[in-house]
Amino acid sequence: MKGIILAGGTGSRLYPLTKITNKHLLPVFDKPMIYYPLQTLIDASIEEIMIVSGRGHAGHFLELLGSGAEFGVHLTYEIQETAGGIAEALSLARNFADDESVTVILGDNIFQDNVKKEVASFKSGAMIFLKEVPDANRFGVAERQGNRIISIEEKPNVPKSNLAVTGLYVYDSRVFDIIHTLKPSGRGELEITDVNNEYIRRGEMSYSVLSGYWSDAGTFESLFRATELVRKMKR
Ligand code: DAU
Repeated sequence: MKGIILAGGTGSRLYPLTKITNKHLLPVFDKPMIYYPLQTLIDASIEEIMIVSGRGHAGHFLELLGSGAEFGVHLTYEIQETAGGIAEALSLARNFADDESVTVILGDNIFQDNVKKEVASFKSGAMIFLKEVPDANRFGVAERQGNRIISIEEKPNVPKSNLAVTGLYVYDSRVFDIIHTLKPSGRGELEITDVNNEYIRRGEMSYSVLSGYWSDAGTFESLFRATELVRKMKR
């Protein structure tokens, strides 16, 4: 199992904090944001990790994290030339994945749970991690029928459940062929929700509901909340 951290995008919702640096280098309590998704992968016993970032501050990721030796892992870097979406960023990791399964995490997602067991038990298809939230309309939202997920809607006005699809995904190597078939969405991006819906359509999606805290950190409010959550956990 290889790991991929997606840290591209423009960070426009955090402007002007992101005017001269990258969103994922901003502090979340006592560490740069990207340390948290990196630690989530390390805690899942993943040792080969690629970081996909935009052009702007790519060198800063290298200076900050280096070879990964300090963390006991091996890091590789890739550049996403323009912010064409989460699925586009993931497509850049095809050669790195080299026909293995991948655990993918968004660079602005902060998890308390350790997902080592779930990752270790993954065999094929796709697996997502859900979390009950009060503001599901900000996220991909899963609709369940019994124990099965029957669809995911990206940022629906009227969410069909309170289960947000968090930014942590496990895919088999077919994910790259699926991305290849995608068309850009209304916001001009290749959407990870379209990838997940294809696995659902094939009946090959599994999921688990997280019990620990989870937050994204891509808006002022969520960045503040993420900092509060991390601080609380450390006291
Ligand atoms: O946080 C979880 C949510 O993340 C999911 O519930 C949604 O289904 C998913 O679409 C995504 O929603 P956002 O619209 O909030 O994603 P955002 O554009 O903020 O991007 C999140 C991270 O993905 C960002 O920190 C870096 C990475 N990314 C994003 C884009 C658009 C890239 O690496 N390249 C990109 O082009």
